[in-house]
Amino acid sequence: MKRAPVDFRGQWVLVTGASSGLGREMAKQLVQVHGANVIAVARRQDRLEALAEELENGTSRVHPVVADLANPVDVARVCRESTALGEVRGAILNAGVTYYGHALEQDLASFDKLLATNVSALVHLCQHFAKYFAQKKNDGGVLLVSSMAGFAPLPYQAAYAATKAFVTSYGRSLAYELKGTGVNVSVFAPGGIATEMLELSGLSRKFKPGDMGVMSAEECARLALEGFQKRRMLTVPGASNKLMAAGMKLAPNRVLMPAIARIYEGSLPDDSKR
Ligand SMILES: NC(=O)c1ccc[n+]([C@@H]2O[C@H](COP(=O)([O-])OP(=O)(O)OC[C@H]3O[C@@H](n4cnc5c(N)ncnc54)[C@H](OP(=O)(O)O)[C@@H]3O)[C@@H](O)[C@H]2O)c1
Repeated sequence: MKRAPVDFRGQWVLVTGASSGLGREMAKQLVQVHGANVIAVARRQDRLEALAEELENGTSRVHPVVADLANPVDVARVCRESTALGEVRGAILNAGVTYYGHALEQDLASFDKLLATNVSALVHLCQHFAKYFAQKKNDGGVLLVSSMAGFAPLPYQAAYAATKAFVTSYGRSLAYELKGTGVNVSVFAPGGIATEMLELSGLSRKFKPGDMGVMSAEECARLALEGFQKRRMLTVPGASNKLMAAGMKLAPNRVLMPAIARIYEGSLPDDSKR
């Protein structure tokens, strides 16, 4: 039997990376469209406080949690603080960082941070919340924000793409393992989004919303939340991205790799060590 879409009204939903871009927009729509309460996680306290002030409306609450997810101690604190607030119904694991540039120029500290944020923190939070939802039997779910970058090797974002391949594969495997338990795991794999991440890459000078499947954060957040509510195992937002995703699966590497590399060539930032 098909289950009804998840109703987040009055429920607590955790959003990591809520200080900017897609995460900020999902937090905003969760409150303003879905009537949810949001646990907003990121490093930049001023941004989280401003978001809470903007969104709190007498019905929904926004609880900022300042945390560096590259630090396992902070990850454990996020788990404790979130579930102490009330019953959590959704965990949106969206925080992520990238590295644009030649793979050999990425220093190890930057790589370790990327791996800790995009992979280790995501797995720890996912395990914590999936077990919590199973124990609560509250029809809760986890949304893992991946990327189309995970569908193929990506010159000049080599490590980032590899972490996103991990996220997609991990999320889809876990979704299968948890079938029938009532715990939902969804993966969201967008193409380009007009956010700080795209700006830092210099790609925002080349691509505006509408070009090459690049979306506004608003539209992308709407489609991410729709996929999550409908418990879709994998959502690729937008017709152009769906078409590109199919092409990435079918095209031979000798065609695909130079085409992808051309997107970045000429757009690499001078200081690509983030
Ligand atoms: N932009 C794109 O083109 C694109 C495409 C596909 C997928 N995505 C994915 O979408 C997600 C959101 O990215 P975005 O485009 O919205 O980028 P963004 O505007 O740069 O936002 C990234 C968010 O992650 C948070 N974050 C980064 N490192 C963190 C850490 N160590 N601890 C806690 N929070 C951390 C940042 O907050 P603080 O800096 O305040 O900590 C920020 O809120 C990412 O997973 C990204 O990989 C982006």
